[in-house]
Amino acid sequence: MSKLRPLPTTGALTGILEALAFSRDPNFAKKRFDRLGNVFETSMLGQEMVFIQGNKAIADLLSQSEAIEVWWPESVRQLLGSYSLANRNGTAHKARRRVVAQLFSSSALQRYSTGIINLIDELGKELKTAKAPLPLAEKMRRFAFSVIATTVLGLEGHARDKLFSDFEIWTKALFSIPIPLPGSSFTKALKARKRLLEQLQKILKQPIHNKGGLDLLAGGLDEAGIPFADEDLGEQLLLLLFAGYETTASALSCLMRELLLNPQIETWLREEIDTLDWPPDPQDATIAYDPSNAPRLNAIVKEVMRFTPPVGGFFRRTKQSLILDDIIVPKNRVVQVALIASNRHGIGDLEIFRPERHLENDSSLKLIPFGGGERVCLGKSLAELEIRLMVVGLFRQLQLKVIPDQDFNLRQIPSPSPRDGLLVKVKV
Ligand code: HEM
Repeated sequence: MSKLRPLPTTGALTGILEALAFSRDPNFAKKRFDRLGNVFETSMLGQEMVFIQGNKAIADLLSQSEAIEVWWPESVRQLLGSYSLANRNGTAHKARRRVVAQLFSSSALQRYSTGIINLIDELGKELKTAKAPLPLAEKMRRFAFSVIATTVLGLEGHARDKLFSDFEIWTKALFSIPIPLPGSSFTKALKARKRLLEQLQKILKQPIHNKGGLDLLAGGLDEAGIPFADEDLGEQLLLLLFAGYETTASALSCLMRELLLNPQIETWLREEIDTLDWPPDPQDATIAYDPSNAPRLNAIVKEVMRFTPPVGGFFRRTKQSLILDDIIVPKNRVVQVALIASNRHGIGDLEIFRPERHLENDSSLKLIPFGGGERVCLGKSLAELEIRLMVVGLFRQLQLKVIPDQDFNLRQIPSPSPRDGLLVKVKV
């Protein structure tokens, strides 16, 4: 049996410099893992925080669900709200997951697929007819938002645009200082949250129709067997916008960036895509480009999630002392699962983007871009469907080239995205 060890620490006390370094240095966690090992503690503005990486430490954490609970920075906690399943634990969390999961069943995805294909065809047309270069990252954001707002919630036109502008105000303050000073971004976000919830509750009060997926939520019961109040469901819908928009847009933008900056990878993928039909047969739309039909596409999606994970890390709080990778982590610590560092930790060429690695059956590579355990992502299948349809749909219809002289580096917060928006033109 291996010997248990005490928790290594950076020795930071106030955590002011650590918080600054964390916000500025993308290699913050890696540098400390290299020095202190796979599990270490530091302080972030007075909050003791344990960082973990590697298969063993992460599996140890996620398998001890009775010993951990959810934790979010205070700004996220307040902006999501106390009903949100992202802020709940135990039976209250499970009951809400059960209800919300109905929006992502395979029959629900089948229902959404025609709407998603239409959005992709509209974007294809817009790109083909554009007179000036267009920012592809911005288009991916609009697309990911529309999939949730139009396809899942059934909103169109003005109602959708209103939701979008308030949602952008709300998102900007997610990781801000949660003090409601007059005019601050947090205060603006709290007001936007109020308007968003009013609008979402209005949608829920409308007679049930089959336009989006909201009819699938009808009859949902909470942990006490009581139907959900509209405030409660409204907060779950707000969570879906939060969880499903920036993340999917980031995956799509980073994927397009890799393909457009690496012509040999694009050619390799095109050999496969050229054998696929677009649009897919409506009956098969959810499976037409799955890993068995499009293994190279699957490898590229996995590599993007490994190399530039849309969710760079997630948190838990320990309710009791835990052992993670043979290190004793005390009770009442915030644990951050550091996916960015973890995905590049190990033997081999993990610092380079190489999709073929996912076709080589390397069992040491365990990726969890969608999290794991009881809180594994509810929208995983929808996100994967959106990404596969978008890549096949766009690349079957046109060839893009990037405009030189733009900043291709990624901004990291809230999710990786090309700084200058990935300006593109259609090749003629
Ligand atoms: C590439 C896109 C996406 C990535 C990488 C991603 C990643 C994640 C991760 C890592 C978690 C776990 C967080 C934790 O354990 O604390 C999570 C949770 C969640 N995701 Fe996603 N997600 C994506 C897209 C979506 C979409 C499209 C939706 C829905 C529209 C969605 C809805 C959710 C919800 C509701 C949760 C909370 C689950 C819970 O707390 O029980 N996600 N996601």
